[in-house]
Amino acid sequence: MSRARVVVVGAGGIGVTAHLPAIAALPEECELIGVVDPDVERRTLAGEQFGCAAFADLDEALALSPDLVVLATPPHLHADGAVRSMRAGAWVYCEKPLTGSLAEADRIAQTEVETGRWCVTVSQFRYAGGSAQVRRHLHDGRWGRPLLGISHTTWYRGPEYWDAPWRGRYATEFGGSTTTQAYHAIDLLLWLMGGEWDRVSGVARTLERPIEVEDASVATIQFPGGGIGSIVTTVLSHEPATTVQVVASQATATLRSLYLPLLSEWSVSTTDAAGAPAPHPEFPEAEAEMSVNGHRAQLAELLAAWREGRQPELTTTESRRTLELITALYKSSATGRFVDRGEIVAGDPFYAALHGRAVQEVLA
Ligand SMILES: NC(=O)c1ccc[n+]([C@@H]2O[C@H](COP(=O)([O-])OP(=O)(O)OC[C@H]3O[C@@H](n4cnc5c(N)ncnc54)[C@H](O)[C@@H]3O)[C@@H](O)[C@H]2O)c1
Repeated sequence: MSRARVVVVGAGGIGVTAHLPAIAALPEECELIGVVDPDVERRTLAGEQFGCAAFADLDEALALSPDLVVLATPPHLHADGAVRSMRAGAWVYCEKPLTGSLAEADRIAQTEVETGRWCVTVSQFRYAGGSAQVRRHLHDGRWGRPLLGISHTTWYRGPEYWDAPWRGRYATEFGGSTTTQAYHAIDLLLWLMGGEWDRVSGVARTLERPIEVEDASVATIQFPGGGIGSIVTTVLSHEPATTVQVVASQATATLRSLYLPLLSEWSVSTTDAAGAPAPHPEFPEAEAEMSVNGHRAQLAELLAAWREGRQPELTTTESRRTLELITALYKSSATGRFVDRGEIVAGDPFYAALHGRAVQEVLA
């Protein structure tokens, strides 16, 4: 089997705790050839720990002609890193949020077309325990029609969280609790509800923390076919939890988790012959060990696609739906009205920037 030669860019939190271990856990599929970070201590430590060369700059690593570049840098560096890497011949596995605007997402999608390389956005909730199984049953129609969806990400981040210089600012983080903390639960809900959405109305506010981006948001979603959904996000909750629920006509699937969905954290209920709530007899099926680690499971899917020369699952076109929904929430918050799918196009200030309040300030 041909092994992909991989470079990891960003040896900070998620680079060291998720991406580098995921690569190390797939020795048959890939080989780590370098890590990049301008912080000399971080890159040296990561290079020593994971046994690879350490570089200060992406271009030095691209000179090695990697097959795959993993972008675990702050969000404002994703778009340029992705485009440069694809132009150098590599596929990209990029942390969320992919970019800070639909315009930049479209630039990445255009680069996919021009280079024949793919940029895959990290969406580990889709790949972690139980999610794919729930999606399969909903998609098959075995649990009836999805009617109502809930995605509540109520987490806590103390003031020290924003010590990292890129956090909290429109220019570098792009968005707050909706974009940074709730991305995966929103993405998962949208995927479970069928992937499409029609309209969003929302409010995003900075209620408590001394930051530019929001620390709380609420929204409603209207799905094609009449389904409806609710989003709640915050970093202010003293009872941290992630809840994703889909009420379908014949079953209700609920995830009660925090940072990584496990199969055991899903429950699926239906009603018994007497009309009382009862666990669904078709859930759960046993799952492969791989699915306990969403980053690794998604990397394995990407590497299989790379080896087979086929399109991976989560290309830019796919992750753009989630980015557009988040952008619509910010636009609705800034304008005070519903935002329709497809209305944010070139010329709309929200096409050029995700963050509603900053754009509103520019417009005022
Ligand atoms: N999927 C998830 O569950 C998850 C969890 C946490 C963070 N993230 C995302 O991962 C990304 C990084 O977050 P983090 O918490 O690891 O941040 P971090 O600040 O801990 O790490 C970022 C690293 O990037 C390095 N860096 C800065 N500029 C660079 C450059 N030009 N080239 C190479 N490296 C550079 C920094 O020195 C730092 O070591 C963000 O997009 C964040 O939203 C995703």
